Amino acid sequence: MKKEIVVSGIRSTGNLHLGNYFGAMKNYVKMQDEYPCYFFVADYHSLTTHPDPAGLKKNVYKVLAENIACGLDPEKVTLYVQSDIPEIPELYLILNMLAYKGELEKTASFKEKARNQPDNVNAGLLTYPTLMSADILIHKGQYVPVGKDQEQHLEMSRNFAQRFNHRYGDTFPEPLAFNFGTELVKIPSLDGNGKMSKSENENATIYLCDSDEQILKKVKKAKSDQGPTEPNSQMPDYIENLFALMKLVSKPATVDSFTKDFNECSIRYGDLKMQLANDIIQFISPIREKTIAIQNDLPYLHKLMRMGKEKGRESASKTLDEARKKIGINFYC
Ligand code: TYM
Repeated sequence: MKKEIVVSGIRSTGNLHLGNYFGAMKNYVKMQDEYPCYFFVADYHSLTTHPDPAGLKKNVYKVLAENIACGLDPEKVTLYVQSDIPEIPELYLILNMLAYKGELEKTASFKEKARNQPDNVNAGLLTYPTLMSADILIHKGQYVPVGKDQEQHLEMSRNFAQRFNHRYGDTFPEPLAFNFGTELVKIPSLDGNGKMSKSENENATIYLCDSDEQILKKVKKAKSDQGPTEPNSQMPDYIENLFALMKLVSKPATVDSFTKDFNECSIRYGDLKMQLANDIIQFISPIREKTIAIQNDLPYLHKLMRMGKEKGRESASKTLDEARKKIGINFYC
């Protein structure tokens, strides 16, 4: 087992999709055998959009079930729900004293959310990166497997860690966004517009809970054209996206064969889409079925949540005690 501590989380908002899988969860599963890992469902983060209580609860169970269905082993990793670890919001409060309004307002995700939900620009949205930093630093996390969209948040986590260390003495490592030494992943949406997302682009995002029919329908609707007219042409973005998805779910020989057809101007996008849809279905349907079984087994989920809470708090309380002591808020010893 390597020594670097791994921490990452997924918000319990909406349904998980191929972007979440290939951007984050695939690496969780790979890392669980090599590193000490802490993975969690970020339910506090989902409160920024004020979900209804019954929906929130259901989503937390579902995301936990999806994590396990994708291959996480709760015996190997510490898997918990963020709100089960009260040390996280305490560290969040402390880090907020080191985070400045100007830098928080400049964060790309804040600007985007403020644009999309102008009636609900709450302080939780503004301080989203400090809560994320608390999530990571509470276990002294060093490697954070995430998709490309989280890169800026990780940069801020490093700044907050550095600032704490500078003021109070060496306490936190500076966490890195991790993808086994390669570029962070961004899974595009099927319409060629932006990325797959839990809340936007729903018809162009493939969810892990989509039925076979839904997958087929969405892939068929993906943007394409008449095909190239010149051999070895440059692929348009939206065709490149289809090939990018194919590389993730299809056999290399399949990708090679369609690439050859493209280069020779003999490609039929209807065939490519049919193959892609079938390969996505092959990939997703076992995850979907497993999720349903786990999601309905509440006693099992409660058991593993308690286990995760206990292991998570053990590590979190050690870090928080150290941080409190460094700051001088340890009055009884
Ligand atoms: P969330 O819930 O939006 O997404 C979970 C993970 O999926 C990745 N992801 C993608 N990767 C590639 N392509 C896409 N289209 C795509 N969409 C999503 C995200 O990068 C993420 O890794 N703020 C985080 C949750 C969080 C967290 C943390 C993560 C809270 N605290 C501490 C790491 C460490 C979020 O909203 O992710």
